[in-house]
Amino acid sequence: MSIAVCPGSFDPVTLGHLDVIRRGARLFDEVVVAVATHAGKAPLLTLDERVGLVEAAVADLPNVRVAAVPGLLVDFCAQEGATVLLKGLRGGGDYDAELPMAWMNRHLTGVETLFLPADREVSHIASSLVKDVARHGGRIEDLVPAGVAALVRARLAPPTDGD
Ligand code: PNS
Repeated sequence: MSIAVCPGSFDPVTLGHLDVIRRGARLFDEVVVAVATHAGKAPLLTLDERVGLVEAAVADLPNVRVAAVPGLLVDFCAQEGATVLLKGLRGGGDYDAELPMAWMNRHLTGVETLFLPADREVSHIASSLVKDVARHGGRIEDLVPAGVAALVRARLAPPTDGD
């Protein structure tokens, strides 16, 4: 059985992530979406919130599961019996950021990283840009799966006196 782990911060999950997960689900028997934390990024959403939003977005995909991964990604891959990490690439900037991680992960346990080129229709979508657009009052509903926009807006809203 072929198992791929699709890792990311998913802060929040976007239609770009979803495209990679959907295409991965056609390539592998099982895809496990690993919601992890990037050491250099302070997430807007909690780990539980990020997991919940990804779970809702992949609910129609029977061979996709979602897990919170608080530790090392390669340890999670070993635990799941996954030999492949699946990642989307939107362009050269992504490649430059992803390559050292792919090398490091392979150094640690031999796990391979497979890059899927992002679909051109969604390659402008990044979680960081989604948050920036929302922060400035822009429309993000057509960039993220259902239910995500409302939570992002709630987290970005300044606290009221009662909070
Ligand atoms: O969506 P992102 O922020 O590009 O995802 C990066 C992520 C979360 C996959 C990466 O930071 C990660 O793997 N974190 C888990 C801890 C880990 O294994 N670190 C070593 C990476 S080589």
